Amino acid sequence: MKVAAAFAGLSLAATLLASRATYPSPHTFTYPNEITSNAAVRAQFASLAIAQSPDWPRLSPRANSNSFEEWRFAAVNAHNPNETITISFFIAGNESTSTTLPGDVVKSNFVLLSYRLANGDGDSVLLSAATTGEEAGAVVITAQDRCSHGVAGEWKGIRASFASSLEDEGTPTSEFTVQVEAAGYGISGTLSLKTTTPPFLPGCSTDNVFKPNQTLRASPHLGWAVALPDANVTANFMFASSSPSPSGRVLDFTGIGYHDHSWSDVPFQQHIHTKYIGSARLGPYSVVWHSTTDHEGNTYNSAYIAKNGKVLHVKCDSSDNVGQRSELNAVLTIESDSLHTTVRFAMDDGSVSTIVVEKSNQNWPALYTQYTGNAYGSFGGMQYKGASLFNEYHTLAGTGTTAGGGSVEKIFGEGIFPGMQTILSS
Ligand SMILES: *[C@@H]1O[C@H](CO)[C@@H](O)[C@H](O)[C@H]1NC(C)=O
Ligand SMILES: *[C@@H]1O[C@H](CO)[C@@H](O)[C@H](O)[C@H]1NC(C)=O
Ligand SMILES: *[C@@H]1O[C@H](CO)[C@@H](O)[C@H](O)[C@H]1NC(C)=O
Ligand SMILES: *[C@@H]1O[C@H](CO)[C@@H](O)[C@H](O)[C@H]1NC(C)=O
Repeated sequence: MKVAAAFAGLSLAATLLASRATYPSPHTFTYPNEITSNAAVRAQFASLAIAQSPDWPRLSPRANSNSFEEWRFAAVNAHNPNETITISFFIAGNESTSTTLPGDVVKSNFVLLSYRLANGDGDSVLLSAATTGEEAGAVVITAQDRCSHGVAGEWKGIRASFASSLEDEGTPTSEFTVQVEAAGYGISGTLSLKTTTPPFLPGCSTDNVFKPNQTLRASPHLGWAVALPDANVTANFMFASSSPSPSGRVLDFTGIGYHDHSWSDVPFQQHIHTKYIGSARLGPYSVVWHSTTDHEGNTYNSAYIAKNGKVLHVKCDSSDNVGQRSELNAVLTIESDSLHTTVRFAMDDGSVSTIVVEKSNQNWPALYTQYTGNAYGSFGGMQYKGASLFNEYHTLAGTGTTAGGGSVEKIFGEGIFPGMQTILSS
């Protein structure tokens, strides 16, 4: 239960005080916008004795040029997949994530924001901050012990942040608010996400609450925790006036969303050969799929299907058996071409549930291409239509036919707003 929403009226203040008194004081992690060491980092790939939020920082001492940590929030209008926004908060080197970024702009703390309007206009923007001075871009993350007690992250300088609701112990985080007030980039707005299904861990935890000592490993070097496999979202953003659109742009929709946290103790491109990850809502079904193949040819899969807000099916490779190849087709199979991706889930009763997602809208260029699109699914013989948010990564830009088009050029340099780096021209 969300504490602040539990009671109304006069009892609210007293209730808040009483509830807050039971919360331990938060831990504060501060990461200056500067990488001073590229020594190997320690990554946490299992939950500890005290269960922590899926969003708890997992790299120590911190992400550097040989590692990365990302908190991703994404939303799409279920009735028009053109309307979408994704905001990814990073602590990473300029070459340690899936997207190689200009080293003179990225010091370590940055945000990648991509959006598209109903009419197809949009942009993909790298938000960064200075290392020193008033606009210094430290990241400050506050996190409370016990898994449901909330995590907040502030990317200072950029003026972008996310925060989860505080919950009673034993209740997973139910709401997140993402705020961007990046005046220098002409971007302001709020994304609100409210969960509709339980969280998901790569070790296939189906518990509402993250227990101690569960794997957080989606593949040998990749940690992953999905606080919001499916969410109801409201997006309200303003993109200030600019030459292609003198009156400015407004993005304002309700729809479906997704939020996860991932981290790695090696550079993304060094570990990962191909990666498919996505979520969809089709009628009563909420679906998440993940499949990573490393450079040694080992594939690691995870599948999650919830129905009417309750977990129906989860299946995962035991990725703690590092180096052990996935049993072929045991969890799911993926086929991808330039227009669609088909995911076939191997259900426990031997049947197959299939979803096909359309690459209607490409939001972010290769290599880690981001799509939204209509979704079509077949569950137990019934057909459903819905919408999907998904990403596909292929090592070589030349595999554009399967990645969904290697034709988009990366364009670095001055964007449409002063100081903005436009990565995908639209
Ligand atoms: C990343 O940063 C390093 C160190 O500043 C630099 O040598 C390298 O050229 C940068 N890479 C890109 C793609 O800008
Ligand atoms: C989505 O955007 C494209 C342009 O990229 C446009 O042709 C199409 O009509 C839009 N779809 C909807 C449903 O508005
Ligand atoms: C999410 O939105 C759907 C459709 O609007 C609604 O039926 C459902 O009750 C909402 N769920 C929550 C948890 O707010
Ligand atoms: C954690 O799980 C691993 C693998 O299942 C097991 O070997 C280990 O003993 C467990 N540790 C604790 C503290 O329970």
